[in-house]
Amino acid sequence: MFLSLLVSASLSIASSDVHQFGYFWDAIDKDHVEEKILAAREEIRGQKEHWRNKVDMFLHSSELIFSPDGVGGVYFLSPLYVIKPEDENILSLHNPRHFGSPFSGKEHGPRTSIAGYESSQRDALCYEVAKILGMERITPQTVMGIVTSEQFFGEGDKEKLCSIQEYLPDTISLYDFIKQDGDTALIDQEDYEMANIFVWVIFDNDAHPRNFRLYQKGSLWGIKKIDNSLSFPEKNKNLTNFLPLLPQGQNKLSFIAKQKIIDIPLDKIEEKMLYFELPKLAIESMKARIRFLEELVGTEDLTFAQIEERLIAKEPLAVHQDP
Ligand SMILES: Nc1ncnc2c1ncn2[C@@H]1O[C@H](COP(=O)(O)OP(=O)(O)O)[C@@H](O)[C@H]1O
Ligand SMILES: [Mg+2]
Repeated sequence: MFLSLLVSASLSIASSDVHQFGYFWDAIDKDHVEEKILAAREEIRGQKEHWRNKVDMFLHSSELIFSPDGVGGVYFLSPLYVIKPEDENILSLHNPRHFGSPFSGKEHGPRTSIAGYESSQRDALCYEVAKILGMERITPQTVMGIVTSEQFFGEGDKEKLCSIQEYLPDTISLYDFIKQDGDTALIDQEDYEMANIFVWVIFDNDAHPRNFRLYQKGSLWGIKKIDNSLSFPEKNKNLTNFLPLLPQGQNKLSFIAKQKIIDIPLDKIEEKMLYFELPKLAIESMKARIRFLEELVGTEDLTFAQIEERLIAKEPLAVHQDP
């Protein structure tokens, strides 16, 4: 909400803001800012090299289309891919929508429990987790890649570490669907259940209505969750999930949904989190919340809204600490 207000506000770039950081420029400590920019640039380059042998795709394009929506650099390579460069995210060095920052590292990340410059890992991880959960229809296929385009924003390196996601044609955001008086009762109930479980498992900090897309599925609407980069926080904080606010949120979980939760394989999720080099605390937090979820559905007959409430009330869930 805060961000969308900012987006609609007009901005005049200060003359001192030569790198076009934009909205946060006033709040930025300007001491040694050029040195910080050089350090961030070096970190971005190092990160790309670190992942070079692990990424799944390499692309080169001069035909990217800049998305009209979003807060970061989002490009469509029509009609197949959505490409998001790591250094163009919110609070990153080369954000093209005036949400930039010269700082990198944990304490300057987009959420208190999510460090900066870890978006493409988290995006790709979430698709792998959807597969583990048997929910790959709930989120588009996503991988990490290295993409080169002169159309990318910012000074310097045009070969960037990115997340590359399958483009979803013929979809509408849940936000626009509601605005256009779409009937949310026609959302496929099985998709609704799976999407909630997916959001809880990844503990999405950003599952607002623009980050869900709906597609026609016969007489019903199927759900896809996009933009999974603010997930797997290091503490179980800031869960943001719009779905339980829909009327279906008052339904109790079906037997199948409960069983899906009880069957979540923690070890397989942990393995993927290790592969994508997520912090240890993010792994411990994942285990703590899923055990809590299992306990909830094993002992009580709750609605989606009630489970959501319990998860939020228990934030941050106690995390097991190694001796
Ligand atoms: N996989 C996709 N298929 C179709 N459109 C998409 C997809 N991913 C993103 N978009 C479009 O781009 C916009 C911004 O993408 P998003 O991933 O939400 O970026 P941001 O992190 O900037 O919010 C979305 O609101 C949507 O309109
Ligand atoms: Mg988004």
